[in-house]
Amino acid sequence: MQIITDPSELQNCCLTWRMQGLKTALVPTMGYFHAGHESLMACARSAADKVILTLFVNPTQFGPNEDLAAYPRDHERDIAIAKAQGVDVLFLPEAGSMYAPDHATWVEVPELAQGLCGLSRPTHFRGVCTVVMKLFMLTLPSLAVFGQKDWQQVAIIKRMVRDLNVPVQILPSPIVREHDGLALSSRNVYLTESERAQAPAIQSSLRLAKKLVSEGTMEISVLAEAIRAHWAANLPDGEEDYLSFVHPDTLAPLSRIDGPALCAVAVRLGKARLLDNILLTEGTA
Ligand code: PAF
Repeated sequence: MQIITDPSELQNCCLTWRMQGLKTALVPTMGYFHAGHESLMACARSAADKVILTLFVNPTQFGPNEDLAAYPRDHERDIAIAKAQGVDVLFLPEAGSMYAPDHATWVEVPELAQGLCGLSRPTHFRGVCTVVMKLFMLTLPSLAVFGQKDWQQVAIIKRMVRDLNVPVQILPSPIVREHDGLALSSRNVYLTESERAQAPAIQSSLRLAKKLVSEGTMEISVLAEAIRAHWAANLPDGEEDYLSFVHPDTLAPLSRIDGPALCAVAVRLGKARLLDNILLTEGTA
């Protein structure tokens, strides 16, 4: 595995592959790998000739009071995992080499970025779209893999790619979970023992909502009440950031479950803000 830190060197390497007609897959990450990241790498490995993994804790997607400085990092371990997953190039840019001091160009998809995570992180998706577009331009990939835990991020990137005619196929990859249902996240390390014990209630509440829908409950208020009651009983230290019922592609809020429906949540638990989501009508009669 080659480790590249210089953006121009990465671009030359990927341009050569592209001109050779090789199929390349990009896996953008912020590091501190867990099995969820490994599944993204495996998905890329099985779909392409060359796998480019990027590890960059992108400052522009963090708000002023967020965890940029504290974001967990372990490059040595991450490098070993990337090698074991058969990654061809790991891009590990020096802090500062990705943004010029007078960087002034931004990519935004405001319509999809306002709700859900955008409510408490108003500039987050502008940072995500901008860095992802920069990574697309540096790596010119045939396809790029993103995890579905960040459903809104995937929906926004798909829309950005469609709207700007970016020739990259977006491959969403399913959420990977702990044995008790907690969605894997690098931020799970922030949880204390007692918070960790409560955290699986996030997924079980979503499964409960899906079960209610399969039994015929279509009223959003009833579903929301059931989820909040489940949290009150099983997640006493959790604080709701949002609980939203939206169309899976447009992210438009739903007034009733009568077609494709996603329930997406963010819960603050101690120092962590945990995301999860479930398709409510998928696989139901
Ligand atoms: O999902 C993430 O880890 C980040 O938002 C991404 C896509 C790597 C952009 O920094």
